Amino acid sequence: MNLKDLYINYFVGKGHKQIPSAPVVPENDASVLFNTAGMQPLIPYLMGKEHPYGNRLCDYQKCIRTNDLDEVGDTTHHTFFEMLGNWSLGDYFKEESISYSFEFLTKVLNIPVERLAVTVYEGDDKIPRDEVSASVWKKLGISENRIVYLDASHNFWIAGESGPCGGDTEIFYFRSEEEVPDTFDPEDDRWVEIWNNVFMEYYKDADGNVTELPKKNVDTGMGVERTAAILEGVNDNYLSSIWIDVIKKIEEISHLKYDDNKKSMRIVADHIRTAVFILGDNAHVVPSNTDRGYILRRLIRRAIRHARYLNIDNNSNWEEEIASLIIDKYSKYYNELLDNKSIIIEELKKEKDKFNHTLEKGLRVFEKETSGLSEISGELAFKLYDTFGFPIELTIEEAENRGLSVDVNGFNEKFKAHQELSRTASKGMFKGGLAGDSEIETRYHTATHLLNAALKIVVGPNCHQMGSNITDERMRFDFTCDHKLSDEEKQKTEDLVNKWINEGLDVTVRQMPKEEAVRLGAEAMFIERYPDIVTVYSVGDVSKEICMGPHVKNSKEVGKFKIIKEEASSAGVRRIKAIVED
Ligand code: ALA
Repeated sequence: MNLKDLYINYFVGKGHKQIPSAPVVPENDASVLFNTAGMQPLIPYLMGKEHPYGNRLCDYQKCIRTNDLDEVGDTTHHTFFEMLGNWSLGDYFKEESISYSFEFLTKVLNIPVERLAVTVYEGDDKIPRDEVSASVWKKLGISENRIVYLDASHNFWIAGESGPCGGDTEIFYFRSEEEVPDTFDPEDDRWVEIWNNVFMEYYKDADGNVTELPKKNVDTGMGVERTAAILEGVNDNYLSSIWIDVIKKIEEISHLKYDDNKKSMRIVADHIRTAVFILGDNAHVVPSNTDRGYILRRLIRRAIRHARYLNIDNNSNWEEEIASLIIDKYSKYYNELLDNKSIIIEELKKEKDKFNHTLEKGLRVFEKETSGLSEISGELAFKLYDTFGFPIELTIEEAENRGLSVDVNGFNEKFKAHQELSRTASKGMFKGGLAGDSEIETRYHTATHLLNAALKIVVGPNCHQMGSNITDERMRFDFTCDHKLSDEEKQKTEDLVNKWINEGLDVTVRQMPKEEAVRLGAEAMFIERYPDIVTVYSVGDVSKEICMGPHVKNSKEVGKFKIIKEEASSAGVRRIKAIVED
């Protein structure tokens, strides 16, 4: 039996109900682009709402974290991962929670107690030092020198800035052939964290005020990839049973060896798997230049770049072969992958073809501009970025492949100095660069910003964008709203957008540090997920949004805006379909 089944069996045996994995795109939570932890879909219940399945729950949850994107390629970081979780909603607390974890690890997974150590919360002026957890651990057989008290930066858990939270106890495993030291040192990286048990008693609001939750809950999380690697005794996650067949497939397609090409093979494996799970989610996100669609686009394009480094023929259907293998592996647990298989394969291919086309063009320019050089100056890196749409990340990777260095500091200086991009340059970047949108799609991008701004006036300031999708034929826009829009509201929204279009408002673009974007009140779906320097588009002074564009130069170019449908998307989320006409 594999880890997921063992885990669910164990907790079901302890009176927990298994709940299905929520979609990777949160259904009712505008604060995040993707679910990043098992607890995320459970927030309303952690805050006191009655859960239809009862007070003891367990699951495996699809999670996506893209904040460590650059780390992917090492042995442990993944953009998609599965999290095992068990929850008590006002039922058991520290003693049972710790005892269950201990029993599962030592009796079900047969991990020797000698290889385990724990951290507990040392407390602060509000929460006392967690002697309760420490004494339970001792009672179970963890010796005192294997228990370390740490502060809130380590042992206090909250998803992002606000929400349910509390002190936690983390369980570590000694992952090394060497002799296990008697005393636990959390700084020694041979000890790896495998499980986090959070004792969720508080709620922190957006202003930092902390209040007690109506119930004391337990929220736990264990990463499947890491734990599987540990149990199988491998020091590289990609050598565990979770990944090894995907790596073998990439070896077969590329005719290269994993040992000589680890980084690129890991990136291809990781990013294609994440793309499969995003495309296979019933939220139907597709590659685009905004929000989730943009993250998906970046992941697919990065996988394609690394496939090229592996000399994989981009005209072959390599992405389909890898995606099909992943779908087969996971569909037993996630039916939706099978239901959406043709969409997954089709969208991957579409994005590959689109990107190949622009990349070929861009790489020719890169080749020409850098030939005969040993270092790419900041100025040239900036020119490649500014004029040819080459992200600095791509310049660095291409330079590394050719044994060239890049003056990244010089690039950053130029970048700052040119925050005010001229309109011509930005147009050149998107037209000649990597975005590759048609003129009509560009008009829809700007219409999307105007619609977002109009809904904030008509529905209210708390109306947030939940997603958007643009084709040559129409735009679709999802937003938080608890009611069906009345005919009057629809009319008012449409009229406002058309009024702004007719006013001929200039569209301007600026690059700026994201803190500044926030200060200026720019709209963004989840600010933590953006890079340090962001692109902000403004339409007159009616709209300001962090976005990659492209956009029209003047709102007049959008044409006549018309709402053709308003319908429910999911609970608390409405969807508008609209068109623009000449
Ligand atoms: N929510 C906790 C975590 O993600 C369990 O670590």
